[in-house]
Amino acid sequence: MEIAYFNGKFLPKDEIKISPDDRGFLFADGIYEVMKWYEGFFYDKESHLARMKRGLREIRINWPEEDTFPIFANELINRNRLSDSQALIYLQVTRGVAPRTHSFPDPEVNPTIYAFVKEFRSTGIVPGSGVKVMLKEDIRWSRCDIKSVALLANILSFQEAHEKGFNECIFVRNGMITEGSRSNIFFVIDGTLYTHPESEHILSGVTRKNILRIAKEAGITAKEEPLPEKKLGIIHEAFITNTSAEVTPVIAINKLTVGNGMPGPVTMLIHKSFNAGIIALKG
Ligand code: PDD
Repeated sequence: MEIAYFNGKFLPKDEIKISPDDRGFLFADGIYEVMKWYEGFFYDKESHLARMKRGLREIRINWPEEDTFPIFANELINRNRLSDSQALIYLQVTRGVAPRTHSFPDPEVNPTIYAFVKEFRSTGIVPGSGVKVMLKEDIRWSRCDIKSVALLANILSFQEAHEKGFNECIFVRNGMITEGSRSNIFFVIDGTLYTHPESEHILSGVTRKNILRIAKEAGITAKEEPLPEKKLGIIHEAFITNTSAEVTPVIAINKLTVGNGMPGPVTMLIHKSFNAGIIALKG
């Protein structure tokens, strides 16, 4: 039986009932967070917790027990017997249940807290093997730094990519490449790593941050600068990053073959270093 966390309680998932007046349902008024469990620990849970707290502040949701997230996350792993597996936890926090009106509930109501875990199974993309991505105008809002549950633009864009046979949709805003519908993107030009700087046009990925650290440790120069779409022709390598798929090499962007159509050396070095970091944490 799958056990999930709902407003302070551990319950069988199919017994959980969320109100039709929940502002998450009515307005997508909430944030979410995703962490990966590696047979014994959540990778960089401090950064995930910090991003979640920042998101709550930005959208002004007050959740006094916010620091309990890593604690019930561990408990969910145990209760679902996933300790020896790889798994993902999804946390959803909404502004709570109140009659529908645009202003915040007054008096304030408790936020709705829901979290579930699922065993991580590879998406069919073999780690270290390459994927093809599609470019598309960034149709999202101007606060992509908030991990909002309002993912409609991401979903429509990802679905379009999926239907056209691509593994991810990469957004372009004002001629600049920002990020993917569910990942950050890095480029390698002459051995230097490029990725979009933190801004309101990208989500500050926890994996992105760790890749920048790993690159520094490996002596690879990294520049947080956006790449203009028109410069794509000069790139030697590309890869996307996120919590679940870690470092995934990109071997084609639209019709453009990246490098020689194989994951490049800098990408593979970073991929291997990331994995080595996980193994080291396992101790
Ligand atoms: N998505 N950018 C977007 C738009 C994302 O949705 C994600 C992650 C990232 C990478 O962030 P991180 O490295 O912290 O996972 C960047 C997760 C995996 C999701 O929505 O399931």
